[in-house]
Amino acid sequence: MSEVDPLARVADWLAQARKHEPEDAEAMSLATVGADGRPSVRMVLVRGLDARGLVFYTNLTSRKARELVANPHVALCFHWKSTGRQIRVEGPASAVDDAEADAYFASRPRDSQIGAWASKQSSQLKGRFKLEQRVARYAAAFAIGPVPRPEFWSGFRVVPERIEFWEKGRFRLHQRELFERDDAGWRSARLYP
Ligand SMILES: Cc1cc2nc3c(=O)[nH]c(=O)nc-3n(C[C@H](O)[C@H](O)[C@H](O)COP(=O)(O)O)c2cc1C
Repeated sequence: MSEVDPLARVADWLAQARKHEPEDAEAMSLATVGADGRPSVRMVLVRGLDARGLVFYTNLTSRKARELVANPHVALCFHWKSTGRQIRVEGPASAVDDAEADAYFASRPRDSQIGAWASKQSSQLKGRFKLEQRVARYAAAFAIGPVPRPEFWSGFRVVPERIEFWEKGRFRLHQRELFERDDAGWRSARLYP
């Protein structure tokens, strides 16, 4: 059994990346699998990280959300050029509860909240003007008071079953450590680069 808590190490590597990355140290790629068995990948931002897993937020009608509701098995990958590190995470994703999503939505800048209402993420947009019209419409609708979280916008928590840490080494002799979770806890193993 491993003495190291890999999720605590993810938090530690992220904290170090924040000191060095010029922008978006929280960015990670998220891979999902469609009903046809084909993968798709895009960037999202990690907005929650603790012993339970990693949380990101998105539009529930988006391609990624539709895919992971049908097949919860996802993969995440962070890469920070500035620290020469990569972290890969694999596991099932499930929806966060309403209170958690509400709290995060309330913390976002007002314009981002309006943007969440305006975007029909991943569906066809017939011209930029249409999006601007929708932004204006929701800005007017929520002109007074707090902007409520749209029902179609929430978060997912990825509960890791595998976490691999990669650190750049000289002459491509990189360091890799893979953690896998079973009923007893985390086991770790070194991998050839
Ligand atoms: C650095 C970066 C961070 C992003 N963060 C998010 C995010 O947290 N949530 C999100 O829905 N989209 C985010 N996006 C946009 C997604 O990459 C993607 O374009 C969008 O979610 C639609 O993906 P889908 O059609 O596969 O669902 C981000 C893009 C970049 C480049």
